[in-house]
Amino acid sequence: MSDNTESTTTAGQIDTVMHESRLFPPIGEFVAKARISSLDQYQQLWDEAKESPVDFWAKLAQEELHWFRPFETPLKWEEPHAQWFVGGQTNASYNCLDAHLTTDRRNKAAIIWEGEPGDVRTLTYLQLHREVSKFANALKELGVGKGDVVSIYMPMTPELAIAMLACARIGAVHSVIFAGFSAEAIADRNNDAKAKLQITADGGYRRGKVLPLKETIDAALEKSPTVENCIVLRRTNNNPPMQEGRDHWYHNLMERASSDCPATPLESEDSLFILYTSGSTGKPKGIRHTTAGYNLYVKKTFEWVFDIREEDVYWCTADCGWITGHSYIVYGPLSAGATTMMYEGAPNFPAENRFWELVEKHQVNILYTAPTAIRAFIKWGDHHVEKHDLSSLRLLGTVGEGINPEAWMWYHEKIGGKRCPIVDTWWQTETGGIMMSPLPGAIPTKPGSCTKPLPGILPSIVDEENQPVEVGHGGMLCISHPWPGMLRGIWGDEERYKEQYWSKVPGSYLTGDNARCDDDGYYWIMGRIDDVINVSGHRLSTIEVESALVSHPAVAEAAVVGRPDDLKGQAIAAFVTVTGEASEELRQELRLHVRKEIGALAQPDDIRFAAAVPKTRSGKIMRRLLRDIACGKETAGDTSTLEDYSVLVSLRDEEE
Ligand code: WTA
Repeated sequence: MSDNTESTTTAGQIDTVMHESRLFPPIGEFVAKARISSLDQYQQLWDEAKESPVDFWAKLAQEELHWFRPFETPLKWEEPHAQWFVGGQTNASYNCLDAHLTTDRRNKAAIIWEGEPGDVRTLTYLQLHREVSKFANALKELGVGKGDVVSIYMPMTPELAIAMLACARIGAVHSVIFAGFSAEAIADRNNDAKAKLQITADGGYRRGKVLPLKETIDAALEKSPTVENCIVLRRTNNNPPMQEGRDHWYHNLMERASSDCPATPLESEDSLFILYTSGSTGKPKGIRHTTAGYNLYVKKTFEWVFDIREEDVYWCTADCGWITGHSYIVYGPLSAGATTMMYEGAPNFPAENRFWELVEKHQVNILYTAPTAIRAFIKWGDHHVEKHDLSSLRLLGTVGEGINPEAWMWYHEKIGGKRCPIVDTWWQTETGGIMMSPLPGAIPTKPGSCTKPLPGILPSIVDEENQPVEVGHGGMLCISHPWPGMLRGIWGDEERYKEQYWSKVPGSYLTGDNARCDDDGYYWIMGRIDDVINVSGHRLSTIEVESALVSHPAVAEAAVVGRPDDLKGQAIAAFVTVTGEASEELRQELRLHVRKEIGALAQPDDIRFAAAVPKTRSGKIMRRLLRDIACGKETAGDTSTLEDYSVLVSLRDEEE
């Protein structure tokens, strides 16, 4: 038991128990060509932006976007409502496509796509422009116009990006729903958004099987009365029933559509898309993003963080159904004129080396993926990686959750060959784009830290009384000045928007994450505010205990939650997936390991071995579910059996 029964910190601060001192300076060869190539240069840019964020963004907006009509007021800020670049007219589809057609990029690959069965397609900017224009005309033919909501439920095919860009072209608002959601979840979202049209496919490939997407959509549309028409892409030839009058084949519409469809000039603040995110509790929120601010933000952050070069092949492994896909597969890379790669299928099909085969085959230079995937690769074994020549890679990125330092080291050594910087990018659906990340040519990295805020981003960390925390202590992470990529609201729920993001800390956007800032001004994300564990008055972050567990060679993955404890307030319950055999000895060893790594206070009280850690569809650990399990039962007596939570997870998922 811990002897630290008295808390030594002030109200609501979070203690850190993590000691990570490894530092990786930017690599010489990388620095030589980087856009921002020294810490000084970064600092100068950041200081300049801090001095006057509005002027900073206004200047960039003028330079970076095409304006049909110039804006007059860079920012109208009536908390909590920001309007950026007011009076101006632009179009995101224009910025992603037309803007490149008069340049050398005209015949450059915009999208390189590989389907799960191995079929490959490349679309140049000119070709993509043509497809998007035609599809925009097809949408118009079905009565879709400015402000109409279009629901998209598609596999990761080029047509998914085409559909998004075609909506943007005519001012329709897309709502992309990840193609793993149930009919119920789709109908909820369609009804909340009052979607007018549905786009889907007959199916998509996943682990060698066909996902019958149209079947799911048929069930969803029975409960989506606002949807008038449904466009169906033929992908798997599984011949779904087509409903006369409502359903239209994509290829039939395209056959007769004209390729002449000039982009509609849109107001800066016209909605570009809604994206539903579940949040930690309750019904999904439709996060609303608008045209100019979002477009500028994803373009600039893409260029800064990925230090993109004209000749790069850039691959973000996310699905377009998540914000990462919106911002860093479609809008960011295409407005920057990059070559963005898309892959349809699973990372372990036909075998666990698929990603590395793709990297080698397409000579990928920049790879952006999620820590949950990295931990899976580690578990699957290095031999899958070692078969492939990964020397084309020059930059690696992560997103979605904190990366445990041991996973970071593996990524650095095995995938990056110790020569590629890693950008650990912290951001949210709500922020639109990356908020904190190393700039790879300028900022030395520390495994597990997202390092520093990007220019124009002003973070602060406060305790529960809204006082700034001391250096090195954790608290609630806030952003204290509006930025162009920020959400503009929750679709149809003004109150929830105010309540959730703007009520707790006056004058600041509340991220909902905890973080600490160290002596060097580096930020460490400590997980969601709701996930803090309070042990004997010490507030601990889940990721730190998880990282200590994952640093043990027998552990593939760990999830840590708090459960009530009479003595300590909360006890630490850990769910652990192991690479080998689970045993009572291992359990003891893991307890001692955590004690040794980070101290007695953080030693888990319960350790359960699990066949898999339950995750949301976007790969985040389902802590709510684990908390329920941790509270319900005491530690299982028999240690050798691995519990499988996947059944529970699917039950929980359907409730969404
Ligand atoms: C978490 C994904 C630590 C965080 C772009 C955030 C991270 C939530 C990181 C948003 C990171 C994302 N380090 N935590 N690099 N990136 N998160 O909306 O809790 O799917 O608030 O957006 O993921 O998840 P979302």
